Amino acid sequence: MGVLSQYAEHLALTERTPRITLGEGATPLVAAPRIGSALGIELYLKFEGQNPTGSFKDRGMVMAVAKALEDGSSAIVCASTGNTSASAAAYAAAAGLRAVVVVPAGHVALGKLAQAVMYGAEIVAVEGNFDAALAIVRELAKDGEYTLVNSVNPWRLEGQKTAAFEVADALGDAPDILAIPVGNAGNISAYAKGFREYRACGRLARLPQLLGFQAAGAAPFVQGGPVASPETVATAIRIGRPASWDLARAAVAEFGGGFHAVGDDAILAAQQRIARDAGVFAEPASAAPVAGLLQLHAAGSLRRGAVVVAVLTGNGLKDPDAAMRAAGALRTVPAQLAAVREAIAG
Ligand code: F0G
Repeated sequence: MGVLSQYAEHLALTERTPRITLGEGATPLVAAPRIGSALGIELYLKFEGQNPTGSFKDRGMVMAVAKALEDGSSAIVCASTGNTSASAAAYAAAAGLRAVVVVPAGHVALGKLAQAVMYGAEIVAVEGNFDAALAIVRELAKDGEYTLVNSVNPWRLEGQKTAAFEVADALGDAPDILAIPVGNAGNISAYAKGFREYRACGRLARLPQLLGFQAAGAAPFVQGGPVASPETVATAIRIGRPASWDLARAAVAEFGGGFHAVGDDAILAAQQRIARDAGVFAEPASAAPVAGLLQLHAAGSLRRGAVVVAVLTGNGLKDPDAAMRAAGALRTVPAQLAAVREAIAG
């Protein structure tokens, strides 16, 4: 059905907004009792990797591209750590628009680049990080030739807020805690917008606490200011100068909660744990909130019995290199029963 039709009454659509869709939204809220019980909480995973291009970006991109079409635009542009570019490229392809994507050279997961290539985007890799790429596309979009579809485009957050609606619809109210990775800080701001609006129209009795998790090497919200050279294995959130700084800070102040940093090793361990104990393969950045919950639990600061939703923002298949690095070399044996038996014998 797609989020524009599903949540039409809650979105700023006009009769001229085309109701385009690639089937985004309606992603599963997966109960994760094995991890939850270890943490003493009721844990759910909002698996956004099930979206058409494998990340939450599709919710906002469908809205941004619909509005670009409504406004008569013929080309869109974005900077990206990978997922935004994959999503922009796909929706532009479906709509018949040009897509130009600017990415940090050498720091985009292979699957994401492959998507942008396949959907036919014009890809420019720059010798700089995401923050530098965003600064460039902001300039590029100034003269009106290109519509900027990064989350500084307000239609992106408008579409992304539908994830909060889905969480609330599935649980019957807001969870106690929403745990979410934070990079450019659009998504945490979009969830806040969604929960706020749902409460205003009487669908929620309460608002959740917002816990935003950043990689330790790219944690401007935790450090209290921009990070010049962000570094993390979670390339999706390798961002030092978040565009939605004010919105995200205001949301956390309003809802309660906070920002926390998690190390790369903890992120990779949590990614594996989510796969092995919940059957969900999410990309490294998406594991940050689960790594963070484990950290808070170890510090004794996670309330027992809390209903917690962790947003798993992207699909693990996008970053096969990260997964295989964790696996090490595969065992190879002769194609004989005895050899296979021996290989799997405890
Ligand atoms: N998780 C994933 C998988 C992402 O791709 C991103 C952002 C985030 C979390 C953080 O979301 O920026 O709204 O705070 N990816 C952007 C991109 C920057 O270009 O794909 P945020």
